[in-house]
Amino acid sequence: MDQSIKFDLDLIKRYDKSGPRYTSYPTALELHEGFGEAEYRRHIEKSNAAGGPLSLYFHIPFCDTVCFYCACNKIVTKNRAHALPYLDNLCQEIEMQGALFDRSRPVNQLHWGGGTPTFLSAEQMRRLMDTTRANFNLHSDDSGEYSIEVDPRETDDRTIAELRALGFNRISLGLQDFDPDVQKAVNRLQSKEQTFAVLEAARKEGFRSTNIDLIYGLPLQTMPSFADTLDQVLAYAPDRFSIFNYAHMPSRFKTQRQIDEAALPSPAAKLEILQMVGQKLTDAGYVYIGMDHFAKPDDELAVAQREGKLYRNFQGYSTHSDCDLVGLGVTSIGRVGDAYMQNYKELDEYDAAIAQGKLPVFRGVDLDDDDKLRRAVITQLICHFELSFEHIEREFGIVFNDYFAAELAKLQPMKSDGLLDLTAAGIQVSSAGRLLIRNICMVFDKYLAQKQQQFSRVI
Ligand SMILES: C[S@@+](CC[C@H](N)C(=O)[O-])C[C@H]1O[C@@H](n2cnc3c(N)ncnc32)[C@H](O)[C@@H]1O
Ligand code: SF4
Repeated sequence: MDQSIKFDLDLIKRYDKSGPRYTSYPTALELHEGFGEAEYRRHIEKSNAAGGPLSLYFHIPFCDTVCFYCACNKIVTKNRAHALPYLDNLCQEIEMQGALFDRSRPVNQLHWGGGTPTFLSAEQMRRLMDTTRANFNLHSDDSGEYSIEVDPRETDDRTIAELRALGFNRISLGLQDFDPDVQKAVNRLQSKEQTFAVLEAARKEGFRSTNIDLIYGLPLQTMPSFADTLDQVLAYAPDRFSIFNYAHMPSRFKTQRQIDEAALPSPAAKLEILQMVGQKLTDAGYVYIGMDHFAKPDDELAVAQREGKLYRNFQGYSTHSDCDLVGLGVTSIGRVGDAYMQNYKELDEYDAAIAQGKLPVFRGVDLDDDDKLRRAVITQLICHFELSFEHIEREFGIVFNDYFAAELAKLQPMKSDGLLDLTAAGIQVSSAGRLLIRNICMVFDKYLAQKQQQFSRVI
């Protein structure tokens, strides 16, 4: 499979509009409070009957200091004592949920995200993993894909060794930008020494996949300054890069109001940065996985994409398509059977549910047949940049040209613009269309028309 990208400035300018990132379809906006604990239990029963491996996501919301740009679900506190009651409740939730899932189901994927999971002490992290092992069927032979997000500002060699000993084998490091002026403007001071020390420690301990998070579009960033950051990271050759487009939505994320909008790079400057990123990473031998993600050609994500086995979930791209995803902790989202569900977003509501012995699920959505069909189409396009109509017709018993007549008509201008090739057999996204894959997926999203203004821009 060809995994190249082509940067077409004119096309990108024309198609730059806001849209979902499709870590799920329907998106989280469709979750409603008519779906609660009873519905969740029903889906778990059905999923146990079907069997299969599990994926577990744990949300650790705490951060020591706030980064002004941050759009994650986090609680900023210097008081480490906050972690303890949260951990108590999280462990109780693990026991409650663990009791509902069939214990023979292996946990093929596990992820700690945040916030900052390394806000927890070594002892607390061990307790969390021990409780998980006691209640779910974790692999003990290092064959699971067990990953953690780490802030290098609060991690050292010892923590990395401890994480490896707990069973983690994939690691992602937050960096964003090395430029001192940019760091000051976003309130995140992070040295090269501490960042690369963590990366090297992870390699030494045998972490199989290392990822670095960067953001383009931050205040005071320029193409040469971001190129400098990228060159420095490339010298350490991480297995993967997540290079996010800064989502500036100060009406939703209050701390973003501390960012001087006049200092944000212009749309033209951002495009220049994006072009440079694509060029440098391609020259360095990385392949574009899609939607902000690049990986070395031998990384499991790149291999899965070539083999047609890539999947997308709330953590981004994944190689585990067949897993039900169990969300644990405040705000976490799960996908069990044909439903998505989310835990309470506010810590006091989450705590109250656990104190009453209830599962903290507060909303969700049941997928109907149309949702499942559209989800399959969007997932296939966003992961593999191609779609076989016959494949979808066989799986869903429809005639693609009839069912999606309106959507196919909307794809015609994209075909004329060179984003994709549209034949009687299917859709093939071009190298230039890959950077605009969201726009192509948006054509198949039936909920989008009413919701467009709530998403960040595509580029
Ligand atoms: C939970 S954090 C990573 C772990 C840790 N908290 C840290 O910052 O090192 C997830 C990542 O989301 C990205 N991110 C956060 N806010 C963003 C925004 N407004 N736009 C784009 N990316 C953002 C950053 O790259 C960040 O590293
Ligand atoms: S980027 Fe990471 S460390 Fe910074 S506030 Fe967000 S979650 Fe916390």
